[in-house]
Amino acid sequence: MKNKKAWSGRFREEMDPLFEKMNQSLSFDIRLYKQDILLNKVYSNELNKLGIISDEDLNKIIEGLDVLEKDIEKKGISIFTDEIEDIHMGIETLLVKKIGESAKRIHAGKSRNDQIATDIRIYLIDEIKEISILLKNFLESIVFVAENNLDIIMPGYTHLRHAQPLLFSHYIMSFFFSLERDYERLADSLKRISIMPLGSAALSGSGFNLNREKLRKDLGFKYISKNSIDAVLSRDFILEFLSNISIMSITLSRFAEDFILYSSEHFNFFILSDKITTGSSIMPNKKNPDSLELTRAKTGRILGNFVALFTVLKSLPSTYNKDLQEDKERLFDTIDTIKDVLKVNKIVLDYLELNKTIMKNSIDTLSFATELVDYLTLKNVPFREAHHIVGKIVMNCVENQFYLTSLTEKMLVSYDKNFKGIKDDWANIETFLKRRELEGGTGLNSVKKQIDYAKKKLTNNFTI
Ligand code: ARG
Repeated sequence: MKNKKAWSGRFREEMDPLFEKMNQSLSFDIRLYKQDILLNKVYSNELNKLGIISDEDLNKIIEGLDVLEKDIEKKGISIFTDEIEDIHMGIETLLVKKIGESAKRIHAGKSRNDQIATDIRIYLIDEIKEISILLKNFLESIVFVAENNLDIIMPGYTHLRHAQPLLFSHYIMSFFFSLERDYERLADSLKRISIMPLGSAALSGSGFNLNREKLRKDLGFKYISKNSIDAVLSRDFILEFLSNISIMSITLSRFAEDFILYSSEHFNFFILSDKITTGSSIMPNKKNPDSLELTRAKTGRILGNFVALFTVLKSLPSTYNKDLQEDKERLFDTIDTIKDVLKVNKIVLDYLELNKTIMKNSIDTLSFATELVDYLTLKNVPFREAHHIVGKIVMNCVENQFYLTSLTEKMLVSYDKNFKGIKDDWANIETFLKRRELEGGTGLNSVKKQIDYAKKKLTNNFTI
């Protein structure tokens, strides 16, 4: 009998190689080697306190694990032999090879079930910190662009039709506020991730009286899981993360879509840098916004990862099931994808050029129609009536092809006497902006306040 698995005692036959390939997770959970080594060190220390590992063995184990960490860092997966199932068995097996018998004691009272649940939580906490830093960098670029272009006005759209003018900085800051919520969701989720499952063993709790409080401290967790069954089976913390990143990715896909549109020949508001655009293999004239198109498309992939895990988790029987092994590739892929997206879109912003004049000249004069309605409303005309009166004026403009903003007091009074007293500069952009200085409006001071808020937020509390 030449079964090489660590659990091979109760098996007569070897595993079919086809199934062996399907069963292994080493090819992807090798990513967790640092977390697994840390866990093994902390855990071996605890076993030493309980008298299960001698002082001498403990030293060998710690040294061996240190060497292993460097070896894996250097050589990667090639260091493991083919029959290794996952990172946990891999590290134990290599340690036995390296230091001999002493290593055979490290798995006492733990299971790969609490081990993987612990490793992945440590890993995810670190990754969330990294993602927050990348998000912060991106947000700093948004604020920089907003602060340095406060004099630019542009058409604002609803239904992708001209609606009302906007300060460009107001527009770009809208993404700050969306992404600020995306950040907060991530930060908030940490309290549900920083819970240590170690000590739960396979499902019922370790048979050894481990000092879990000490393990928690040494591994850097905030809390300890309170129920071993829940601890080994629950992956809702991953689902929550995948959901949070899906929402963030949707925000970024909107950003990408706007930038694709606004940089297209038809709008020509933005000029994208060569750094994040591509050419065509046949048409020498093309400069394509692939970075933004891919950002838009990655949302599908990220949301797909969320849905995939959601489906895996549905109706699973308690407690650990191998189905849970499928969580990792989805998680890793989402992490890698969002990090790339955040990095690339920062470049988009940092090298963005704005066609100030085109943006300003693209404001449709009809976009000032609401100003007339507001004027009448302030003259005590019921709003709905005022809307109707101005609607007729707009219709006249469209049918007879003249600019709404060219209407003088005299002409307006011919539509409705209540226009008496309206200044001829009623359609002035400055007036329009000044009327919108309330909190959250597109007025210059309001936008400056938004920028101040963002800057404070970014310096004071944007690091998890
Ligand atoms: N590779 C496994 C996973 O990712 C580790 C846990 C295996 N547990 C077990 N009882 N086979 O979920």
